Amino acid sequence: MNAPETDIQTVAELDQRDPVPSQRDKFAIPLQDDGSDTIYLCGNSLGLQPLASRSYVDELMDAWSKHGVHGHFEGTSPWYPYHELFRDTGARLVGAVTPDASLPGGEVVMMNSLTANLHLLLTSFYRPSGSRRRILMESPAFPSDIYCVQSHLQARGMDPQSDLIIVGPREDEDCIRNEDILEAIDRAGETLATIMLGGVNFLTGQVLDMPSIVHAGHQAGALVGFDLAHAVGNIQLHLHDWEVDFAAWCSYKYLNAGPGAIAGLFVHAKHGRDVSIPRFGGWWGNDPQSRFRMHLEDQFIPVAGAEGWQLSNPSILAMAPLRASLDLFDSIGMEALQERSQRLTNYLRNQLDANSSGRWRVITPNDAQGCQLSIITQGDARTAFEDITKQGVIADFRPPNVIRVAPVPLYNTFAECHRFVSILSDALET
Ligand SMILES: Cc1ncc(COP(=O)(O)O)c(C=O)c1O
Repeated sequence: MNAPETDIQTVAELDQRDPVPSQRDKFAIPLQDDGSDTIYLCGNSLGLQPLASRSYVDELMDAWSKHGVHGHFEGTSPWYPYHELFRDTGARLVGAVTPDASLPGGEVVMMNSLTANLHLLLTSFYRPSGSRRRILMESPAFPSDIYCVQSHLQARGMDPQSDLIIVGPREDEDCIRNEDILEAIDRAGETLATIMLGGVNFLTGQVLDMPSIVHAGHQAGALVGFDLAHAVGNIQLHLHDWEVDFAAWCSYKYLNAGPGAIAGLFVHAKHGRDVSIPRFGGWWGNDPQSRFRMHLEDQFIPVAGAEGWQLSNPSILAMAPLRASLDLFDSIGMEALQERSQRLTNYLRNQLDANSSGRWRVITPNDAQGCQLSIITQGDARTAFEDITKQGVIADFRPPNVIRVAPVPLYNTFAECHRFVSILSDALET
């Protein structure tokens, strides 16, 4: 085996001495056929199961069997206010304010799925008027975001070609330069209605300079929102202070809430307080004071805040596992987690750089990284990916040639990063 430079003892010491210890023993780690742990570096796609999530799901199953419909208001965690359990933890996670008398629905709500939330947000925050009718997004963008924006433009009678501005990397570069985004915003000027970008790029792992983009967008008179699928639980966010207008994310990646888990949505307080903002209505977004007057209340009066964008009574079963994961985030805090994340990712990056011998390169910018590193290999990347998979690495492959790996600070270790580089090295040797 082609051992990377760092010796195993040093790696073990790194794991033992890290000031923010791994929470690995609180997660179910998928096993290989021989019973040993896989090297799971795929939290950027689907986070691992927190062991405590089972008891939150069991609690619901028990309450349902015991109380039937009364479970909405009875039992240890009644379902009617279940979404409120995430008000504080959700706000801390993304740097939002918590509900108060002027904003009973807060800035954050967990609801629906990511693409559905993006559509709901564009309904409110893409308000073309006169020549201000264009949306700016990035390339490469996740396909669902592209389809979302294109279909939204179409549904609103706009032109998905001329009303969409796309900013991508320069020729022969892998990532988008922030200056190019700012320049495109400036150039679009008064034609720009809305900016919607991935806060952390799904393919390259590049973290965008969100505050400068919000500032430039507002200077141009546009509203600015982010898809935070790859950012939430990965990097520290200050959505309120950055004055982000709107954002949405999923909870199955770094938030470890399980496949298709409930998603999240952020609406800045300055918009949340304005209940006249056009939106699609549903009873769960209605003022809770009158929600249960049913047909006696035929006027939709949204509750002020993000909760005013809710439509349906939430999928409680899809929410339950999120409690277990957010308990962990809360017990450590995003700041400490991000510090550990950067130690792990920098270690992995250094190992990759030191052992590459021209066989691969990391395209994630080192001054704009979260925990995901995206690697382009020489030769047949798919075969290399299949080889490392056989050796017990769980990562993912994005065509044509990108292998994405994410050492997640909650459950990955320095030793795993070390071993991964050995395995990749062997795969590319053969
Ligand atoms: C950046 C990004 N946007 C959108 C989606 C689509 O999410 P969903 O299927 O939950 O709507 C994903 C899923 O991985 C994603 O990574």
